[in-house]
Amino acid sequence: MPGKKDFVVTPYEVKGRIDYERLREQFGTQPVTPELLSKLRHMAGGELPPALARGIYYSHRDLPALLDGYANGRPFFLYSGRGPSGPLHTSHLLQFQLCQWFQQRLGVPMYIQITDDEKFWSSKTGIAREETAHWGVENLIDILALGFDPKRTFTFFDSRSIGALYPLAIRVARKVTYSTVKAVFGFDPSTNIGLVFYTALQTVPAFWPSWAEGRAVPCLIPCGIDQDPHFRISRDIAEGLGFPKPALLHSQMVPGLLGESVMSTTGDRSDNALFLNDPPATVERKVRNAFTGGRATVEEQRRLGAVPEVCSIWALWRTQFARTEAEFVEVTEGCRSGRLLCGECKSRLLERVQAFYRSHAEAREKTKEWAESTIVTAAPKPL
Ligand code: TRP
Repeated sequence: MPGKKDFVVTPYEVKGRIDYERLREQFGTQPVTPELLSKLRHMAGGELPPALARGIYYSHRDLPALLDGYANGRPFFLYSGRGPSGPLHTSHLLQFQLCQWFQQRLGVPMYIQITDDEKFWSSKTGIAREETAHWGVENLIDILALGFDPKRTFTFFDSRSIGALYPLAIRVARKVTYSTVKAVFGFDPSTNIGLVFYTALQTVPAFWPSWAEGRAVPCLIPCGIDQDPHFRISRDIAEGLGFPKPALLHSQMVPGLLGESVMSTTGDRSDNALFLNDPPATVERKVRNAFTGGRATVEEQRRLGAVPEVCSIWALWRTQFARTEAEFVEVTEGCRSGRLLCGECKSRLLERVQAFYRSHAEAREKTKEWAESTIVTAAPKPL
C-alpha cells in the first residue's frame, strides 16, 4: 500500500498524496509564520487575501528580507506565470489573486509570463501549437481581468516576446548545465531539447527589470510549490550574473472536486475542476457532484458533524470564496458541528461562485481591449 512517503512533486509531475510539511523540508524552504503574516498585514494595511490568511501560502524563500527592503525604500516587482494548455480553472487564479492584492496595496509592478512554448514541449498528449497560442491569449485575459493595473503590468508571451527575452536567456542558459536540469526535473533521454532549454526562459523575467534598469531590482515570485525547482536554479545562478536572488512565496495545490489531491485536469477529469468558461449549469452540476466530508445519512451528520479537512467544497471556501475570516469560521464550525449540512453548504457556495463568474465575465470583456498591449516585444538593450 502506498504510504505517506510516496509522493512526487516537480514542475512536470505531481503524484500521490502530498505531505506538504515534508515537501517543504525536502525543498529546504522556510515556513510562513504568524509573525510573517502580521508583518504583511501591517505593511499592506487591512485583511490578507484568503489563501494567505488561511495557510495555503505556507512556504517561502527570503520573503522577510524583501519586505524589510521595501520598508526601507527598496521597492520590488512581482513575477508569476502560466503554462497555457486549456481554460483556467478557479485554483489557477490563486497566485494571480495574491499578486493583484500586492499590486493594489503596494503599487508594485507585475510581470506575467505566458509559456505557450513550454506547454507545447511538455504536453504528454501532444497539444497543437495553435492551441497553446490560443489559450495563452485567453488565459492572459482572465488573469488581467482580476484587476491588474494596465500601466504597471507587463507580459512576456514567450513565442511573441522572445526578442525581449533572448539577450538575457543567452546569459542564463550559459550558466545551467545539462546534468542540473536532468537531476532537477527528472528528464530522460527521450525528453525533447526544447524542455532542456526552457528553464532558462522561466528564469529570465526574474532578472529582466534589473537588467533593463541597470540596477538591482528585488523580485517576488508567488507560485505553486511545484514550480520551486525552476527557481532554485534561478537563485543558484543569480549572483554570478550580478542579479539579486528572487524571493519566493509558495502555495499548496488545491484539492480537486472529486477528492483527489490536486485540482488537476489532464485527461477526462474535467469534472475535477471549475473552469472559467464553464456555463452556469455545468458549474452547478460540478458543485452538486463534488466530493465532501459528509456522513452517510442526515441523522448521522447532525449527530457526529462532518469533516471539513477532506471536503473539496470546504477547500473552495477556504482558498477563495469565504470573504472574511468570520464567514470562514462560521462555515467551518457549522460543518464540524453538524449544523450546516452539505446540501445547504453547496447551495451557498454555488451562489458565491456564480456571482464571481458573472463579475469576472464583465471584467473580462473590458480587459480584452487592452490585454495584448501589455505584451513586451522589445529588449531594453541590444546585448
Ligand atoms: N511553468 C509554469 C506553468 O507550467 C508557468 C510559469 C512561468 C510560472 N513562469 C512562472 C509559474 C512564474 C509561476 C511563476 O504553469
